Amino acid sequence: MKKFKTRKSLGAHAITLPQPVLIIGTYDENGVPNAMNVAWGGQVGAQQIELNLSLGGRKTIDNLKIRKAFTVAFATIDTEVAADYVGIVSGQKEPNKMEKSGLHAVKASKADAPMYVEFPVTVECNLRLMEETDYGEMRVVGDVVNVSAAESVLDENGKIDVQKAGIICFDPAGMAYRTLGDKVGQPFRDGNQLK
Ligand SMILES: Cc1cc2nc3c(=O)[nH]c(=O)nc-3n(C[C@H](O)[C@H](O)[C@H](O)COP(=O)(O)O)c2cc1C
Repeated sequence: MKKFKTRKSLGAHAITLPQPVLIIGTYDENGVPNAMNVAWGGQVGAQQIELNLSLGGRKTIDNLKIRKAFTVAFATIDTEVAADYVGIVSGQKEPNKMEKSGLHAVKASKADAPMYVEFPVTVECNLRLMEETDYGEMRVVGDVVNVSAAESVLDENGKIDVQKAGIICFDPAGMAYRTLGDKVGQPFRDGNQLK
């Protein structure tokens, strides 16, 4: 293994590498679908997904307070432009946000939230917890109630194949969306070599 002995301090900033590109689907009080892009989020337990939302101007926060449910889709190479669009335009300011995005909503099967048919993998969540943090953001925790995937992105064992799905990630250091690379190891097995 290579050793990195000379280092440069880059200061404290948001840097976890890589981050997911999560597309959060919610309905408003009239059943109008919305979507936003979230990098600061992920799986935080066997059944929970957590999101960190900035306060002030997020339509998604208003929707979550009312409908108490959301979907989480993983952006793909094919949906990258639409995924970025829903991350730079707010449903508060653009009433035609979803039409302009080109994403098409259908009701999720288990959660009171929209899912978008352009994303091959979607998680459905019921809101468990929503709290303002002392660092001025909204912490959102959802219980996973269903995961659905297009059959075309499943492997021969029925598991989601991230390459087939074309799932992308967010690289905050290089400020880039990137594809996921080749498999380089086997979790829970390769470390056995050192036992
Ligand atoms: C790559 C990317 C990652 C983002 N991550 C977050 C995030 O983690 N939390 C957040 O509050 N906003 C995040 N945003 C910004 C929101 O997606 C954006 O403010 C969006 O317009 C909110 O939509 P809404 O007001 O319709 O809910 C991100 C945007 C991009 C492009």
